[in-house]
Amino acid sequence: MNEKKEVGEKALDYIKDGMVVGLGTGTTVFYTLTKLGELVRNGLSIKGIPTSKQTEKLAKEFGIPLISFSEVKQIDVAIDGADEVDPELNLIKGGGGALLREKIIAHAAKTFIVVADPDKNVAKLGSFPLPVEVLPFGFELTKKKIQELGLIPHLRQVQGGPFRTDNGHYILDCRIPDKPNHKELERELNLIPGVMENGLFLGMTDKYITLDRNKDNSIVVRHR
Ligand code: 5RP
Repeated sequence: MNEKKEVGEKALDYIKDGMVVGLGTGTTVFYTLTKLGELVRNGLSIKGIPTSKQTEKLAKEFGIPLISFSEVKQIDVAIDGADEVDPELNLIKGGGGALLREKIIAHAAKTFIVVADPDKNVAKLGSFPLPVEVLPFGFELTKKKIQELGLIPHLRQVQGGPFRTDNGHYILDCRIPDKPNHKELERELNLIPGVMENGLFLGMTDKYITLDRNKDNSIVVRHR
């Protein structure tokens, strides 16, 4: 069984004709996009708004019509993956580096649906390093300020150089303290000049689609 495919496709139960759909990023949403393309070819009329260049490219390949922010009146549903999901459906996101656009779109959506295999479920957030997107200008100072909050940041690297987001920014992957107040941490991080956004998605998830390991891996949809 392909767990990512199962949960990724299930999200399409919530997509109806005429909707504007926020299209997330990652290997789970890949299956959402593949199936959505199929539904569009069979007559479903929706418009998508992608959270990354990678997703934009896939959506075009799969024949999903896209819409730009200037034309959007509202985003009905956004579907996205996660790197960690806690029992209150708070998330860490940004493993794929798309957290800023993902947060803009999730925040704007009337319904935010998260799809993830059960390996992403955690009792508390923080085993996965928290991605923080920062401006390259003066990032060394930004990094110091983040350290002063008790985090341990590492500049994300790719092929021997800093990873760049679709927005041209860097990512600092941060080990976070054992028992932080996540709400406070999110606020403090975003108050640092040079921090563009962080990967904590707190109180944003409306529906969470995963599998229940205790019930033969059957699909479970949890609601906030
Ligand atoms: C990208 C993300 C992804 O949603 C997250 O990394 C999960 O990805 P995957 O479905 O590949 O495990 O936040 O920035």
